[in-house]
Amino acid sequence: MPDTKLLFHLSDIHFGLEDNRALDWVKAEIEERQPDAVAITGDLTMRARHREFAAATSWIKSLDVPVTVEVGNHDLPYFNPIERFFDPYKRIRAISDKVEQEIDLPGLAIVPLKTVRRWQPRFNWSKGWVTDAALERCLTSLDALPAGTQALVTVHHPLREVGTHGTALTKHGRKALNELAKRPVIAVLSGHVHDAFDIMEETVHGKIRMIGAGTLSQRVRSTPPSFNELSWNGEALNVEVRNLEHVDSSDMMIGDVPEDAMPPREPGEPVAPVGQVPRTDPPVH
Ligand SMILES: [Fe+2]
Ligand SMILES: [Fe+2]
Repeated sequence: MPDTKLLFHLSDIHFGLEDNRALDWVKAEIEERQPDAVAITGDLTMRARHREFAAATSWIKSLDVPVTVEVGNHDLPYFNPIERFFDPYKRIRAISDKVEQEIDLPGLAIVPLKTVRRWQPRFNWSKGWVTDAALERCLTSLDALPAGTQALVTVHHPLREVGTHGTALTKHGRKALNELAKRPVIAVLSGHVHDAFDIMEETVHGKIRMIGAGTLSQRVRSTPPSFNELSWNGEALNVEVRNLEHVDSSDMMIGDVPEDAMPPREPGEPVAPVGQVPRTDPPVH
């Protein structure tokens, strides 16, 4: 039986509207517990502003454990379409050694799968899209793992296709899940929803587990700021939703991925960012 691995799954920190009380607590937890790895599943900033990335990258660099970072839809240049198209990761370069990086632990790997695109042939660019190239990269990494190694795949958008073809939460998410289910993937770790969940998804190749982390920002959806503490003993993956309000994990988790995975629009949020449909009606939660 291998040693138990401790992993922290953080998401949607949204510097610019971060929750500093939650961040101070998480950082202290990381220093004290020394997890084997920290996976941050995207949306580091609110609007990909330089000052927001400076704060985000400085906080992430201060964590003295292995960290892998996914890019979220809020992390691509928002007000600068030229930079968004030609150099979308320019502002995140300070932590380029952690962005979309695989982490290999004995017997367990964390393998990234990119779900953001610099542009999309549809109106709403905040939703996910798994390109053939991104999926190929992920599958190649999974197939190269030593025999017996299991994997957690990290994404920003849950790999769920809901609604009609045109409004799918993550385009080609179904195809990705089908491929991942054929491989030794323990679970897909995601963000974007701002509430935690832990569900089993059916695919043509059997079930696959999808685990979402909540937010560490003030931009909460229906639960207080939280992160997921994962422990893997080689056979079972346990998820505890850690939060400052001491709410039980079961009460912190939503039952399913919502079709509209967008949290409420905060006061002052621009209504017509690059490539996105204006949001005029903040949902009521
Ligand atoms: Fe988010
Ligand atoms: Fe997001």
